[in-house]
Amino acid sequence: MLDKRVEVVIADDLEALSEKAAEFVARCITDRAKVKDRVAIALSGGTTPKGLYEWLASENFRHRITWNQVHLFWGDERCVPPKNPESNYHTAYESLISRVLIPVKNVHRMPGEKADPEKAADEYEQALRDFFRPSPEEWPTFDLVLLGIGTDGHTASLFPGSLVLQERKRWVAAPYVEKLHAHRLTLTLPVFNHAAQVIFLVAGKEKAQVMKELHVTGHTQDRFPFQLIRPDHGKLVFFLDKPAARFIAQGEGL
Ligand code: 6PG
Repeated sequence: MLDKRVEVVIADDLEALSEKAAEFVARCITDRAKVKDRVAIALSGGTTPKGLYEWLASENFRHRITWNQVHLFWGDERCVPPKNPESNYHTAYESLISRVLIPVKNVHRMPGEKADPEKAADEYEQALRDFFRPSPEEWPTFDLVLLGIGTDGHTASLFPGSLVLQERKRWVAAPYVEKLHAHRLTLTLPVFNHAAQVIFLVAGKEKAQVMKELHVTGHTQDRFPFQLIRPDHGKLVFFLDKPAARFIAQGEGL
């Protein structure tokens, strides 16, 4: 059975998934903006969220959101310059940031271009500390975290077998990812699990096999990194399209 704090939303296809997720994100932002001055969101990398970002920038949504209250961060980043098409910032800039009236100071990019990934991670952690101003030993609480899932079950840049999965002190790490022959910058598990709300966006038939895990174990096991994402006090919603949810009957066996 699915953990009661986990919800699964299944959409017909990626476009429908993107629109459903945009509605959810817009509502989450507007609800949080009513009770706090700043709404902190950690964006996902990869290609799946592009449609969601475009919806948020569309006529249907962009006027519903008080962008001056929104602060954008990233859950992870490739170690490339911001103008590189591989950059997660680049994807969000092209599909969202360049199309809405969000103040430049509200966009907190991970410095993927830095020559030293460890220093880049420390720099980003300091930027997070400057924003959240935590008390000692306190973790930051993002209002909303968007995440994707790879076919190997990774999420953000938390890959299977990586030592970063054990990180319990740093907020930001710079793991070397063997299979990519590259470093990445990533928020760590405790940061993700202190979020008020986490959503996964998963689309495509190539993700069906890894998402079968959700049906089989109800998000209660730790076989894949994405299964370690269980917000301590927050809510978790999986947005899947039907091809990715092929092994998950709507509402049954979950
Ligand atoms: C990245 C992401 C990564 C991504 C998954 C899914 O930087 O690549 O953070 O975790 O979300 O690999 O990627 P797709 O959406 O492209 O399938």
